[in-house]
Amino acid sequence: MWAILCLVALSDLAWALTRSPGVYQLTSPIDHGEGPTWDPRKGVLYYVDIHSGTILSYEHCSGKTHSISLYGDVTPILPSKNEKLFYVGLNRSLVALEWDGKNNVGKQTILATVSPEYPHSRFNDGKTDKRGRLWIGTMGYENASGVQPDEGILYQFTKENHEKPTPIIAPVNISNGLAWNKKNDKFYYIDTPTQKVVQYDYDDEKGEIKNKKVIFDLKDQIHVTGYPDGMTIDEDDNLWIALYMGGAIIKVNPVTGKLLQVVAIPAQAVTSLTWGGPKLDILYVTTSRYPFSSEERKRQPAAGALFAVTDLGTRGLPAFEADILNEPLKLK
Ligand SMILES: *[C@@H]1O[C@H](CO)[C@@H](O)[C@H](O)[C@H]1NC(C)=O
Ligand SMILES: *[C@@H]1O[C@H](CO)[C@@H](O)[C@H](O)[C@H]1NC(C)=O
Ligand SMILES: *[C@@H]1O[C@H](CO)[C@@H](O)[C@H](O)[C@H]1NC(C)=O
Repeated sequence: MWAILCLVALSDLAWALTRSPGVYQLTSPIDHGEGPTWDPRKGVLYYVDIHSGTILSYEHCSGKTHSISLYGDVTPILPSKNEKLFYVGLNRSLVALEWDGKNNVGKQTILATVSPEYPHSRFNDGKTDKRGRLWIGTMGYENASGVQPDEGILYQFTKENHEKPTPIIAPVNISNGLAWNKKNDKFYYIDTPTQKVVQYDYDDEKGEIKNKKVIFDLKDQIHVTGYPDGMTIDEDDNLWIALYMGGAIIKVNPVTGKLLQVVAIPAQAVTSLTWGGPKLDILYVTTSRYPFSSEERKRQPAAGALFAVTDLGTRGLPAFEADILNEPLKLK
């Protein structure tokens, strides 16, 4: 029985691998790349280098990058309906920031500061839903011994509550990848140390989730290792997940829980991924060198670079634009 199941799983994998994706290093390494998001209006990928406070833009056509720096840990960066207005997580504050996408910063203001009970926690991964609300999670204080447990919270920011966002999931350890399916009735979520991907039923009108169900557990897998980090979804409703310390991205069918494809990335700490390019068929992948000693960095010279993965035989759906302010930005 086991042999038959295993053969089926392996043949699925082999079939997918015959399409041989291309993996390309696009930039030189940064410390801790994260939070890629594609803006089709400009043909630009935004991402961050968390601990240096840097927000970067990568131009798809020219291959050029630009960056600005803020004072603190920065992630995520979420584009809005206004091309020059971004929502940025800075430590545990949400900042509205005017930026030309290159080197010029305009007005900026703090909209909210969350989790006063965990003063050393910080924002981590976040995403915009179909109605323009922001879902951004936090994680506990992190040092060389690890992350303070149970200090993370997933928050939702709306037009009505953006000064005091609603906690949606608490507690978590490291709030990370999130995605909604095409029908917009399922929400997928990763709390990294659990090594699991969970699914909730999603009510888009109310912005509510319920009925938590584990759909994928990395501990049950024999082909892959590491910790699930950032996540995105494709037009066929399959999940794509970055494996931190796993040196790969994976494709998972959330309905069957099956591992469909593994693409190796030449960097062990793979942090996140998103669809981009003019046809939304390039998977942009961020990586990190932050956890590695100088010895390990020599062995993995590409750790921390931005990568593009092509020829995956599928593509993504456009990201949604944030919409949580009723009036133009005022300086506070
Ligand atoms: C973010 O936190 C760091 C470390 O605690 C601190 O030095 C920095 O000033 C903070 N940034 C802001 C904008 O509060
Ligand atoms: C990390 O922080 C915890 C909690 O504050 C502390 O107990 C521990 O000693 C720290 N470890 C290091 C290596 O600084
Ligand atoms: C967070 O991690 C701690 C320590 O590993 C564990 O005891 C706790 O159950 C975790 N919390 C959640 C919400 O998974």
